[in-house]
Amino acid sequence: MSFTLPDLPYAHDALGPTMSKETLEFHHDKHHLAYVNNLNNLIKGTEWEGKSLEEVVKGSHGKNPGVFNNAGQHYNHIHFWKWMKPHGGGSIPGKLEKAIVDGLGSVEKAKEEFIQAGVTQFGSGWAWLAVKDGKVIVSKTPNGENPLVHGATPILGVDVWEHSYYIDYRNRRPDYLKAFVDSLVNWDHVAELYDAAVK
Ligand SMILES: [Fe+2]
Repeated sequence: MSFTLPDLPYAHDALGPTMSKETLEFHHDKHHLAYVNNLNNLIKGTEWEGKSLEEVVKGSHGKNPGVFNNAGQHYNHIHFWKWMKPHGGGSIPGKLEKAIVDGLGSVEKAKEEFIQAGVTQFGSGWAWLAVKDGKVIVSKTPNGENPLVHGATPILGVDVWEHSYYIDYRNRRPDYLKAFVDSLVNWDHVAELYDAAVK
C-alpha cells in the first residue's frame, strides 16, 4: 500500500480571505502531493514499505533524511488541513482550555508563545502545541520535523514554510500566524487530539 493525498476537508475557496483558494491549490494540490509522491518513490523496496506513516516518521529520523523529511511533511500536512476550518478560531473547549492554562499560564499567553515560535523559526518549519508528559507545551521544528520525534504528541501545528503564506501575506509571516490563530484554527479537532494524547 502506498501513501495517498487526502482530499481537503473543505472546498479550496472555503478559508478565504484568510487563506486563499490559490494558496490551497498550490499548497495542497502541488506541494503536499509532491511529498506523497517523493515518499512513495523513496520507500519503494525499503524496510519502510508497508509501515504506518507514524512508524516511518519515527523510524527514519536521524537515519534517512530524504524519507524522514517527506514522511514528516506528509504527516504534518494531513493534520494541517484538519487543524483549520472556515470561520475557525473562537472559543476553546473547556477541558483543553484548562490544560492550556495549566501548561502555559493563560490562553492569551499560549497563543502569543505559539505565534512567537512560528515567527522565530528560522527558515522553513512548523510551530506546535504538543502534549509532553501530560502537559501542553509550545515548540518549533525545522523543515519536516515534528514533536513526534521529541517524545511529544502534536495537537496543533502551523506551517511556516513560505508556500503556506507567501501568496496571501508575502513576507508578513507574523500577520499570517495571527490570522491563523484568530480565524482558522479548528479547536474542536485540537481538543479531540488532546483527549487522545492524555488517554
Ligand atoms: Fe506546507
